Amino acid sequence: MINKMICKANDSLIEVMKIINENAMGIAFVVDESNKLCGTVTDGDIRRALLKDIGLQDKVKNIILKEFTFGYITDSYESLQKRIDHRIKIIPLVNKQKEVVDFFEYKQNVYFPVAIPNLNGNEFKYLTDAFMSTWISSSGEYIERFENEFSKYSDCKYGVTCSNGTVAIHLALIALGISEGDEVIVPDLTFPATINTVLHSKATPVIVDVEENSWCIDPKEIEKAITPKTKAIIPVHIYGQSCDMSTIMKIATKYNLKVIEDCAEAHGAMYGGKKVGSFGDIGCFSFFGNKVITTGEGGMCVTNSVLLDEKMRVLRDHGMSKTKKYWHDVIGYNYRMTNLQAAIGLAQLERIEEIHKNRKEYEKNYKKLLPKDKFAFQQDIENRRRITWLVSVLLAKSIDREVYITKLKEKGIDVRPFFYPLSDMDIYKQYCKNKTPVTHKLSKVGLNLPTYESLKSMDEIRNILRDI
Ligand SMILES: Cc1ncc(COP(=O)(O)O)c(C=O)c1O
Repeated sequence: MINKMICKANDSLIEVMKIINENAMGIAFVVDESNKLCGTVTDGDIRRALLKDIGLQDKVKNIILKEFTFGYITDSYESLQKRIDHRIKIIPLVNKQKEVVDFFEYKQNVYFPVAIPNLNGNEFKYLTDAFMSTWISSSGEYIERFENEFSKYSDCKYGVTCSNGTVAIHLALIALGISEGDEVIVPDLTFPATINTVLHSKATPVIVDVEENSWCIDPKEIEKAITPKTKAIIPVHIYGQSCDMSTIMKIATKYNLKVIEDCAEAHGAMYGGKKVGSFGDIGCFSFFGNKVITTGEGGMCVTNSVLLDEKMRVLRDHGMSKTKKYWHDVIGYNYRMTNLQAAIGLAQLERIEEIHKNRKEYEKNYKKLLPKDKFAFQQDIENRRRITWLVSVLLAKSIDREVYITKLKEKGIDVRPFFYPLSDMDIYKQYCKNKTPVTHKLSKVGLNLPTYESLKSMDEIRNILRDI
């Protein structure tokens, strides 16, 4: 965009009018022969010049003012904000050499959602390629490529794409034969998809508390909750943190339980150098728009079992036999992902480590600026690689979270309170037999902060958070 806003001092007014017409911003930044900023010109300036009998072929350098407003790219948000108003709405931003590198815009109603997907890699290229191939439905080369690459990334042999993270968990439960009469242990602190899918498979969820340090399901609570009916555990790697997988797997082996890892918020997180999703029988991922990598809507089950892989492929495709078309041996579902979604996913996956690096950087930035006595950041635990999904903090008692959230909303910043304990909701209460004090404590004071790939936005958000 910035290139479309720059004109040369020797350009004629008609040439500059064309530039302004094309950029649709009402302004052009004028640079001299050595590309240094020497002025700004708006469509209004040109109109006024023409009314004073200056010709369309006259050079723009003859009408620009000696004094004009600009900023340096390193200037703080507040100082830039002070330089603009309803009259001067856009100013150029320059580097040390006074070359134009960006612009700053007056926005009355800024809105910062919690997350914005970054689609700056090969997403559009692959998407148009899939589109042009006409394989826009649930067959096509991108599906296989995305399954192969993502399962490899997650230290698993097989990957089965599906429509979203919720059905990924449902597919896993059905493939593992979980059904009526079975009990499945889930954490109290999670997104309800974890428990809903257990209920959809007609099994009985058993809600247990989480650990104080990791915020993930507490293995001690899992063991306490085991009965002869227990068939499976769903550890949720919450907010990018890995569960204590070695203890959970020991418990699962001891009691012969299936393990379905809910990795919706933890793509690439590790325990003991191994990726989450590769410990249990099946790992389930979400690629919703706010996740570390996205396909818009989408999900994937990863596994090291060829049998489970085959079962899930059949189940996601209406239960149709792989050897006899339109012959159905099991009651299946339509849980397929499209080639278009997989094309976006593959491009996202190519940059996943860069995305992780950027996100960690933003978390560090928040940490630097927000007071330690008011914001306790999510902990890093030895032997685990925590990834930054949404930067997550616990607010000090001195901050009233609801008031804080309301004030931030007034400033256009959307933050997310932690999930409510499942056990507090009428529809799930009956599935929680023991108290869950840790979940309740975290849920009351936890906040997910906007986590972006735009540094300027991060600056603005951090400053507003700190000031409030
Ligand atoms: C922990 C957890 N599990 C499951 C899901 C479900 O994923 P989806 O929204 O793709 O269905 C989410 C999604 O937000 C989640 O956070």
